[in-house]
Amino acid sequence: MSPAGHCCFLFLFVTVCYWVPARCYSDGKVTKVCGSMDAHHGVPGQTSPSPYRVTTNITVFKPGDYIQVIVTGSTYFEGFFLQARDATNQSSVSTVGTFTLTDNIHTQLLTCSKHQGSAVSHTSDHRQTKVTVIWKAPEDAPSEVQFFVTMVAHYHLFWVKQRGPVISQHGVTPHPTQPTTTTTKRPTTTPSVLPGPFTADGCGQQKSCLFDPPGCDPEGDSQCFFLSMTTEGADKTSVMFELSGPAEGYLAFALSWDTWMGNDDVYMCVKDGNRVSVTAAFVSGRTHPEDESQAGLSWVSWRLADGVIQCSFSRPVKLSYQEPERYDLDQEYYLFLASGQAVYGKTKRHSQQPLISTYKKRITGPPEVLEGSRGPILLKMHGALMLIAWMLTGSVGTFIASFYKPDWPNQLLFGQKVWFQVHRILMTLTVVLTVVAFTLPFFYRKGWSEHAGVHPYLGCCVLALSLFQPIMAAFRPSPDSHRRYIFNWAHWGVGAVTEFMAVVAMFFGVRQSSMLLAPPWATHVLIGYVTWQASFRFLLLLHKHLNIRKSFGAADQEAILTNTSQPSQWEAFIKSIIFASFALGNSGLLTALLSSIAEV
Ligand code: HEM
Ligand code: HEM
Ligand SMILES: *[C@@H]1O[C@H](CO)[C@@H](O)[C@H](O)[C@H]1NC(C)=O
Ligand SMILES: *[C@@H]1O[C@H](CO)[C@@H](O)[C@H](O)[C@H]1NC(C)=O
Repeated sequence: MSPAGHCCFLFLFVTVCYWVPARCYSDGKVTKVCGSMDAHHGVPGQTSPSPYRVTTNITVFKPGDYIQVIVTGSTYFEGFFLQARDATNQSSVSTVGTFTLTDNIHTQLLTCSKHQGSAVSHTSDHRQTKVTVIWKAPEDAPSEVQFFVTMVAHYHLFWVKQRGPVISQHGVTPHPTQPTTTTTKRPTTTPSVLPGPFTADGCGQQKSCLFDPPGCDPEGDSQCFFLSMTTEGADKTSVMFELSGPAEGYLAFALSWDTWMGNDDVYMCVKDGNRVSVTAAFVSGRTHPEDESQAGLSWVSWRLADGVIQCSFSRPVKLSYQEPERYDLDQEYYLFLASGQAVYGKTKRHSQQPLISTYKKRITGPPEVLEGSRGPILLKMHGALMLIAWMLTGSVGTFIASFYKPDWPNQLLFGQKVWFQVHRILMTLTVVLTVVAFTLPFFYRKGWSEHAGVHPYLGCCVLALSLFQPIMAAFRPSPDSHRRYIFNWAHWGVGAVTEFMAVVAMFFGVRQSSMLLAPPWATHVLIGYVTWQASFRFLLLLHKHLNIRKSFGAADQEAILTNTSQPSQWEAFIKSIIFASFALGNSGLLTALLSSIAEV
C-alpha cells in the first residue's frame, strides 16, 4: 500500500476529508484492517491509558449464549471497531462469534475473516459515549474469548487494539494466565469513577497546588476549591491535573497569558445529571468556551459525591497536532479557577469572581503551593482608596464647606477659619487619593479597562473635575472682590457635579466583574450611604434657610432682643453633634464596604 493509500482507512474525521477527498470516508467501512485493527491516521496510536472501556454482562459463557457487550468512555468517541478473538492463541487474527446490533443508525456490522457480523464499527463520525451490542458465542468457541476494540476520539487521537475483558467457557478450566492476559488488569481502561476524594498530601513536594480558601482541605471541606498539577514520567512528558470543588454545576481552570479573561486554554469538569464530563476548550474573549473537545486528555476520571465535583486527567506537555490548539505546559501562565451553574451539561457564566493565581506559574516547574485571589490587590486598593476618598474625606470636606461656614467663628486653625482649613485639608486629601487610586487599575491592566462599562469613563470625569477644583480655588478672587460670586457658584457647581459623578462611579465600581463585591449587598450599602447623605444635607439645608429667616427677623427686632448668644451656643453644640454623627455614619458605611473588599 502506498503511503497515500494508508490514509484514513479506518475512522475518518470530516475536516481531513476536505484535504484528501478521494481517500477519506468516515463511514466506518474498515474491513481492510480487520487483522491489524490499526487506524492508519498518519500518526501512531496512543500508548497512554485509554479513557474507554469494554464491559460484558457475564464472565462465563456457553456456546450459543448471548452476551451483552458495552463500549463506554468517560469522554465521547467519534469512531470504534470491535471484535472478539480467541484469547488462548495470541497469534490468531481470526474473529470469533457474531454480533447483533441494538442501534442500526450509529453502528453497523462488518465482515471480517469472511464471516458476516464478526465485527462492529461506527457509521459516521457522530460523537457517541456508549455503544451496546450483543455477541453470540459460536458452537466451536475457544475456551477463552477476548474482546478487542480500536477507539478513535478524534482523527489524531486514537487507541489501537485496546484489550477488553476475557470471558471463558462454562466448565472449561481457565487458561493459565498469560502475561498478555494480565495486561487487561492494567488500568488501561481507566475506571471513570474515582475511588475517593483528592488529598492535599504532597502539595509542594510532589505536586503544585492551588487552594481557595488558602490551605483548605479538599478531602473534608465541600467548599474547598483545589487544583493540583503533577509532572509525570522520567522525562516530564505529561502533567496530571486534579480539580475539585463544590458541585454547583461545573468547575474549570484556565491557563492564561494575562489576568484578563480571553485567549485562555480552559479545562472543564461539567456535571450532567449524575455524570461528569471532562473537556478542554478555548475562550477567545469574555465569551462562552469554544471548540470543546476531549482531544489530548487521557486518564480521565471523576467523582461526584458529598456535594463535591472532582475530576482528574493527564495531558501531554506538548501536543503534536495543533488542532484544536492547546497551550504547551512548559510555559508560564496565570491560573484561573472558575465555577458556576450548568444546565444539562452546558456551562453558565461563572457565579463568582474567578480566582487568579498571584503570579505566573510554569506548569512543569517545581512543585509549590500557589496562592490566588478573586480580586487582584491593585483593584482592591483602587476600590478601597476611592471609597475612602469619596465616602469619607470628600463627603465630610464638602459637608463642612456647605454648612459649617458660620460655625466656630472665634476659633482659628493654623491661622484660618476652622471650616476652611478642614475643607482644604480634606479636599486636598481627596484629590490625592483619587489620583493615586486612579492609576492603580492602569498598572494592573497595563492599559485601558475594556469591558468595564461606563465606570472608567465616569472615573476619568471625576478625576478631571477633582483636579480642576483646587486649581480654580487657587486662582479665586479675594473674598471682597465683586467677582467672587462667580468663583463661589462655579466651585459649588463643579464640586456638586464631581461628588454626584463619584457616587455614580462607586455604584458601577462595586459591580465590576473583575472584583465583584457580594451583590447586591454592596449596592444596598451604597443606597444606605446616599440616603444618609441626603437626609443630613436636607436637614441642614432646612436649618440654614430657617436661620436666614430668623436672622432677618432678629435684625428687625434688634432693639428687643438683648442676648442672642445663648441659643446660638446651644445651636453650635447641636451642630457639632450633627457633624460628628455624620462623619461617624460615613465611617461605618465605609468600613462595611472596605470589609467586603477585604473578603473578595
Ligand atoms: C469615584 C470613585 C471612582 C473612580 C473615579 C474610579 C475610576 C476608575 C477608572 C478610571 C477605572 C479604569 C482604569 C483603567 O482603565 O485601567 C476604574 C476601574 C475599576 N474600578 Fe474604579 N473608580 C472609582 C470607584 C470604584 C469603586 C468604589 C470600586 C469598587 C469597589 C471600583 C472598582 C474598579 C474596578 C474593579 C476597576 C477595574 C475594572 C477592570 O479593569 O476590570 N472603582 N475605576
Ligand atoms: C475636589 C475638590 C473640591 C470639592 C468637591 C469642593 C467642594 C466645595 C463645596 C461643595 C463647597 C461649598 C460651596 C457652598 O455651598 O457654598 C466648597 C466651598 C469652598 N471650597 Fe471647595 N471643594 C474642593 C476643593 C477645594 C480646595 C482644594 C480649596 C482650597 C484651596 C477649596 C476652597 C473652597 C472655598 C474657598 C470655598 C468657599 C466658597 C464660598 O465662599 O462659598 N475647595 N467647596
Ligand atoms: C446478558 O445480556 C444478554 C443479551 O442482552 C441476555 O440475553 C443475558 O440474559 C444477559 N445475562 C445476564 C446474566 O444478565
Ligand atoms: C493459532 O493461530 C494460528 C493462526 O490462525 C494457527 O496457525 C495456529 O495453529 C494456532 N495455534 C493453536 C495452538 O491453535
